[in-house]
Amino acid sequence: MVNTRRKLIVVANRGPVSYQRSPEGERIARRGGGGLVTALRSLLARHEVTWIASAMGEEDLAVAGEHGGDAVDETARDGSPYRMRLVASDPSTYDWYYNVVANPTLWFLQHYMWGLPYAPDLDLGLHNAWFNGYLPVNEAFADATVAELERDPDAAVFFHDYHLYLAPKLVRARRPNALTAHFVHIPWPQSDYWHVLPEHLRREIHEGLLANDVVGFHTERWKRNFLRSCGDILGAEVDIAASTVKHEGRTTLVTNHPIGVDPAEFDELKDDPSVLEQERLIAERRPEFLVVRVDRTDPSKNIVRGFRAFALFLDMHPEMQGRATMLALLDPSRQDVPEYSEYLAAVQREARAVNDRFQREGWLPIDLQVADNFAQSVAAYKQYDALLVNAVFDGLNLVSKEAPLLNGRDGVLILSENTGSFEELGEWALTVNPFDIYGQAQAINEALTMSADERRRRLEATRAHVRANDVAVWIDAQLADLDRVSERVSA
Ligand code: G6P
Repeated sequence: MVNTRRKLIVVANRGPVSYQRSPEGERIARRGGGGLVTALRSLLARHEVTWIASAMGEEDLAVAGEHGGDAVDETARDGSPYRMRLVASDPSTYDWYYNVVANPTLWFLQHYMWGLPYAPDLDLGLHNAWFNGYLPVNEAFADATVAELERDPDAAVFFHDYHLYLAPKLVRARRPNALTAHFVHIPWPQSDYWHVLPEHLRREIHEGLLANDVVGFHTERWKRNFLRSCGDILGAEVDIAASTVKHEGRTTLVTNHPIGVDPAEFDELKDDPSVLEQERLIAERRPEFLVVRVDRTDPSKNIVRGFRAFALFLDMHPEMQGRATMLALLDPSRQDVPEYSEYLAAVQREARAVNDRFQREGWLPIDLQVADNFAQSVAAYKQYDALLVNAVFDGLNLVSKEAPLLNGRDGVLILSENTGSFEELGEWALTVNPFDIYGQAQAINEALTMSADERRRRLEATRAHVRANDVAVWIDAQLADLDRVSERVSA
């Protein structure tokens, strides 16, 4: 069953493409960014997909308007056809949903990003944004999902992420027999931390998710936290051994499958002319050792502490001054959220401070590039001697899987113990505590001075794991979960 082509309705805030106008005034479809879209794009080739996403910019809104809210026929880069249905919201409604609730509240909460004596202040703004932003956008997604289910009653619905916690319950009320799964791509914090949110919000979030037949996470750790918080917050009946939650007469299966990458896509990218050009530029500038990081400019990625660790490493190992550079390739993200723009400024200030202290003619200690430049990131994947992934918390972290596939220098992965990928890759990485700057400085030195054999052994093992557990394995696991529950329901 798993390998047959199936009808899927993917429901996620961001679509595989968004529309823009070229300088010549022509409409172009631009590849959507972020981990979720990168990973889910492979679904398009394997299944009959209708993707429901938010209309994000003016051109998306124009496309949605031209089709009267109906789906548009699109073609993926590899030629696979799919349908994309854009959900249009008023700009202020979308702003409350994305820039008040989803990112500065839910994302912050789920990555433990508040220093609680000072933040958050959940004032009227949040309550207003919940009722007039998050709820109506979720309602609009639920309406679109129900409309697609009318067209295709047998399609399975595949919700994604923290933008859409309320939609499943709204769909369930109107389509009690729909088969639905929800995958949460970010961490699930322990239940006490959910108590930062007012009671009705944390209840609605948990109840929204439990309206699904399956709820999935990347790791055992996030799954365990979810099972416990369903008990603590809703008083639901939790069976840890069976990994199920019973609430209001329904049973939800809770699973963990870490997402993978599409190795074929990266094999192809490796020799792409734009990647080769970027690689030439990096190779020209690089000193003996290159420590690379590739991230969105998100406070959860822990970029400032990474720079401080690099400075401490240069202090502790003066022999490395002039010989090692940290290349930080950062994709600007969510800049309408003040916490994000302030964080980007802090990142730039810290890089400047380190450079002012150490830099000398012909050597830049921290080479900071803030741009959306995928070819440059791929080129850096090939060139690193150490890859720093030191996130405060991270649902998975795809960079830690993508980069080893392409690396040509037996580079060493330095990995935060709070990333989801740590469950899979930890044994071949140098593990760091993301708050321990000294530990990270030591790890950078250990990575750059490790024997060639040891580096190669670790990289090869990592690569073999990533190849064997690719995105196709993840997709099949999701579909197998849906089959399991649909057999249970029809038995
Ligand atoms: C994370 C989330 C995704 C999101 C991505 C990019 O990976 O789990 O849902 O698509 O970040 O974030 P953005 O806000 O740019 O869509």
